[in-house]
Amino acid sequence: MHIGVLGSGLMGGKLGTILARAGHDVVFSYARSEQKLKKLAREVQGNARAGTPGEAARDADALLLAVHWSRVDDVLKQAGDVSGKVIVSCSLPMNADDTGLVIAHTSSGAEQLAKRVPQARIVSAFNTVPSEVLFGVFEARRKARRPSLVYCGDDAGSKKIAAQLIRDVGFEPVDAGPLRIARYTEPFALLVAQLAYEGDRGPELAYRFEPFGK
Ligand SMILES: NC(=O)c1ccc[n+]([C@@H]2O[C@H](COP(=O)([O-])OP(=O)(O)OC[C@H]3O[C@@H](n4cnc5c(N)ncnc54)[C@H](OP(=O)(O)O)[C@@H]3O)[C@@H](O)[C@H]2O)c1
Repeated sequence: MHIGVLGSGLMGGKLGTILARAGHDVVFSYARSEQKLKKLAREVQGNARAGTPGEAARDADALLLAVHWSRVDDVLKQAGDVSGKVIVSCSLPMNADDTGLVIAHTSSGAEQLAKRVPQARIVSAFNTVPSEVLFGVFEARRKARRPSLVYCGDDAGSKKIAAQLIRDVGFEPVDAGPLRIARYTEPFALLVAQLAYEGDRGPELAYRFEPFGK
């Protein structure tokens, strides 16, 4: 697949790198320095380049939205027409100092995003794990017991694409349902972050849902 990364920081940089190593074509975009984007692309060694958000969006089969909530409008404006595009968003609707959700309970960041770009096909994914665990999960992808990753969205085709990307990173996709379920997954992401950054086991943390007692 052609993957356009909108926001090449901790999440976008790592997920883009992993997806390129998994065989996808990746365009890294949206960082404050072009040098950083070029370095990311170079270090992948193949299948990746630096570009503008517009270039990242142009031929993308899927866009990975990985910017701070306050930058969503700006990056989407730069991306241009995203009609019909699959946007896999890991962005959480956090306040400026990242201490709390600015949208919750009666809506979610993912639903607001879908309202912002109604012509795009939004899937919420990858926001329930810390960036620190991503390379470890990718390295362990051939093991039988994979960590779970919840995702949700309203469009079956785009969810299928997201599930494939989730598998390619090394997680077992867990379909949590329609996009409004992001009202539950986004606060859950803050729980995972709490455990990762304030708990005593460190930030390389993933989770796994499994049937119990069978
Ligand atoms: N980090 C995590 O573990 C984690 C986990 C779950 C969900 N999330 C969510 O994922 C999203 C991305 O988080 P992140 O930790 O990857 O953030 P990040 O490391 O700050 O990355 C954001 C990217 O946006 C770029 N950017 C910011 N302001 C810009 C501007 N004015 N012009 C151009 N580029 C700009 C940054 O550029 P620079 O590279 O130059 O800084 C960076 O590449 C957020 O919504 C966050 O809530 C993060």
